[in-house]
This record gives sequence, C-alpha cells and structure tokens, in this order.
Amino acid sequence: MVLPAQVELVLLQFIMVLVVLVVNGGPLEIGFYNESCPSAEETVKWVVARAYESKPGIAPGLIRLHFHDCFVRGCDGSVLLDSTPGNPSEKEADPNKSLQGFEVIDKAKEMIEAQCPHIVSCADILAFAARDSATLTGKIDYQVPAGRLDGRVSIASEVLPNIPSPLFNATQLVANFAVKNLTAEDMVTLSGAHSIGIAHCDTIINRLYNFSETSDVDPSLDPIYAKFLKIKCPPNVTHMDPTIVQLDALTPETLDNEYYVGLKLNLGLLTSDQALLTNETLEAMVNMNAYHPEVWDWTFAQAMVKMGEIIEVETGTEGEIRFNCRVINSGSFAFTDQ
Ligand SMILES: *[C@@H]1O[C@H](CO)[C@@H](O)[C@H](O)[C@H]1NC(C)=O
Ligand SMILES: *[C@@H]1O[C@H](CO)[C@@H](O)[C@H](O)[C@H]1NC(C)=O
Ligand SMILES: *[C@@H]1O[C@H](CO)[C@@H](O)[C@H](O)[C@H]1NC(C)=O
Ligand SMILES: *[C@@H]1O[C@H](CO)[C@@H](O)[C@H](O)[C@H]1NC(C)=O
Ligand SMILES: *[C@@H]1O[C@H](CO)[C@@H](O)[C@H](O)[C@H]1NC(C)=O
Ligand SMILES: *[C@@H]1O[C@H](CO)[C@@H](O)[C@H](O)[C@H]1NC(C)=O
Ligand SMILES: *[C@@H]1O[C@H](CO)[C@@H](O)[C@H](O)[C@H]1NC(C)=O
Repeated sequence: MVLPAQVELVLLQFIMVLVVLVVNGGPLEIGFYNESCPSAEETVKWVVARAYESKPGIAPGLIRLHFHDCFVRGCDGSVLLDSTPGNPSEKEADPNKSLQGFEVIDKAKEMIEAQCPHIVSCADILAFAARDSATLTGKIDYQVPAGRLDGRVSIASEVLPNIPSPLFNATQLVANFAVKNLTAEDMVTLSGAHSIGIAHCDTIINRLYNFSETSDVDPSLDPIYAKFLKIKCPPNVTHMDPTIVQLDALTPETLDNEYYVGLKLNLGLLTSDQALLTNETLEAMVNMNAYHPEVWDWTFAQAMVKMGEIIEVETGTEGEIRFNCRVINSGSFAFTDQ
C-alpha cells in the first residue's frame, strides 16, 4: 500500500505520540532509550566531554544542577526552565550564583532532537550528564535508569526551603534529606560531591570573622587553612562577590573520597561539611568513606541513582517531553501549580 507522504507523516507522528505515552507510563528503566533513541546517552557523553575539555568546572556544575533539579519538585528538569514575565523560575533563586551547565544541556538536547525528535526528556539528559561528569572527574560510572518526564512548573521561592543551606548543622542536614526520602547515610555519601567544585566566599565568612563570643574563627577549622581562607575572602566580601574557594582542599578536581580525609583534618570548607563530624553516627560514616575509597565510589554511584529515582519523579501523565529545555511546550505560562 502506497500512502501519500502527508498521510504517512501524520501516521508516523501519531505512532510516535502513542509510543511516548505508553513507554513513559512505568517506573524508570536502564536503557530506556535503547530502541527509541539509541544514540541519546552517547550524545550526552560526547557533549559533556567536549565541554569538560574546555572548562573542567562544568563537571561539578552539572552534578550540582542535577541535585538542585531533584531537590526541588523531583528530577523533572524544573531547574532548567527560564523565567517568564512575572514568573521568576528556580534559576533566579539566591543559591543560583554558581549554577552552571545550562548551555551543555541545551547543546545535548539540540543534537538529540536532530536524531530523534521529541523522545528524550531534559530531566533524563541532565541525569545522564551528571553521571558522565562523575565518570570524567572520578572514573565513577553507573547506569542511569531513565524515562523521566519534564515538569511544567518552576518557582524561584521553592528553592530556598528545599535546597540544604551551607550553614546547616547535622540535624538540619539529616532532616532536609529525610524530607526527600533519603537517609542520613545517603546524605553523608552525597556530600562527597563536594570533593570537586567551588564555593563563593560569602558562604564561609561566618566561619572566618566574629564566629562567636569566644572565638573569631570557627574552632573546628584548621588554623592554617583559616589563615589562607581569610586572605582569599576578606571581611568586606559582598553577597555577589565572585571570589571562589575550592570545596576540597586536597584533591579539588578529582571526585574521590579525599573529601572525607579532608574533614578529618578539619579542612571541611562549609559549616555543613564540617557538621558531619559533630554526630557520632555520621562520623562513623565519614570514617568508613575516608578509609575505604572503593566503598565510597560504589555507594556514591548507588546514592546518585537513588536520588535520581525516588524523589517525586514524573512519569505517567504528569509531564511532557520538552522541545526546548528552557521553556514548557505549550505557549501558556503555566508556572503556578494549579
Ligand atoms: C537496553 O540494553 C541494555 C544492554 O543491552 C540492557 O541491559 C537493558 O536492559 C536494555 N533496556 C531496555 C529498557 O530495553
Ligand atoms: C540569579 O538570581 C538573581 C536574583 O537573585 C538574578 O538576578 C540572576 O539573573 C540569576 N542568575 C541566573 C544565572 O539565573
Ligand atoms: C541545629 O540547628 C537547629 C536550628 O537552629 C537547632 O534547633 C538544633 O539544636 C541544632 N542542632 C545541633 C545538633 O546543633
Ligand atoms: C565583628 O564585630 C565587631 C564588633 O561587633 C564589628 O565592629 C566588626 O565590624 C565585625 N566584623 C565583621 C567582619 O563582621
Ligand atoms: C575590601 O577591602 C580591601 C582593603 O581592605 C579593598 O582593597 C577592597 O576593594 C574591598 N572590597 C570591597 C568589595 O569592598
Ligand atoms: C546523630 O544522627 C543520627 C542519624 O540521623 C541520629 O539518629 C542521632 O540521634 C544523632 N545523634 C545525636 C546525638 O544528635
Ligand atoms: C516520600 O515517600 C512517601 C511515601 O512513599 C511519599 O508519599 C512522598 O511523596 C515521598 N516524598 C518525596 C519528596 O519524594
């Protein structure tokens, strides 16, 4: 049977829409795009590797972007949406200063759309990109269950109540992760992502000046390291000051367990890093990771998969496959959760 080209195209589109609806109904699956877009994961890997060559900081950036995505409304690509007039999106929220990697996701999406249009979600691309970043910086490789849908809502004011603050103590950290159905052990394991990447001075000046009545500097900070940090971060540093400090003083560009070794040497940069040693249960986990690099590599991979899988993931009919990761598909500005 020979069909006119128009009819064939319409039929083909109809079948593609059906496939998307059916396949996205269930839980996440490894190799989700095996049949529908076999080149998807390789394409993301290629784009991330090219970006990393010219800018190594992109790797921690993409891991952080995935984390921020998952902790606000689940891993639904909401962090990728641009604001629309009158609707500031998650990107505009205060902890956004060092969010980066948006152009990498855009590039991967563009290439994937050219190969298999409207099949691969932005949320999945981001989850793949985070994995590829872990592989590039730490040789940590794992398979990413996929099949997420992209959300249609992104609200700036939802960021602060959901993302853990760098000033959190142990109790607050455990509670923040528990709200996301992640355990204290998941929290300690995922904190190891601070084995790469940077922080801005304003997140640590509280530890360097006027810390308490009795001590100018946070006594849980190594004194020599504190001196170095004071030189980098003077007391008049402003809120948007661009000065940065490496999160892991020992091996700042390698994703490894040295972060935990650093904690034991009082080199934890943020209050929320050093806080892991203020509770015996958490400290035992830090010790395990500090002394057993292969254990941390494995548990980190598991925890990344778990984070990407259990937090309010959109499958079923709740979301869509965006054409452009920065905007929802229809023209309507559906940024409120009605
Ligand atoms: C995709 O292929 C891989 C490797 O052959 C396999 O392990 C996985 O189960 C497949 N996934 C799906 C959903 O078909
Ligand atoms: C971050 O948020 C500020 C407002 O708090 C906004 O001016 C800025 O454009 C945002 N940055 C990005 C990269 O979205
Ligand atoms: C952590 O901070 C909260 C809120 O400020 C406080 O109620 C709690 O006692 C603190 N916990 C510890 C162990 O310091
Ligand atoms: C520390 O506290 C003193 C006395 O309250 C104040 O004069 C000084 O400006 C403070 N320094 C910083 C860096 O906040
Ligand atoms: C902070 O103070 C130093 C001198 O003490 C000055 O050189 C620098 O410009 C100041 N920075 C800001 C952001 O005010
Ligand atoms: C330490 O953390 C564990 C795990 O969250 C918690 O069960 C325990 O109560 C905490 N211990 C103290 C002394 O706060
Ligand atoms: C945590 O698990 C409960 C029970 O399964 C579920 O109702 C809740 O939505 C989950 N929370 C998140 C943030 O995923």
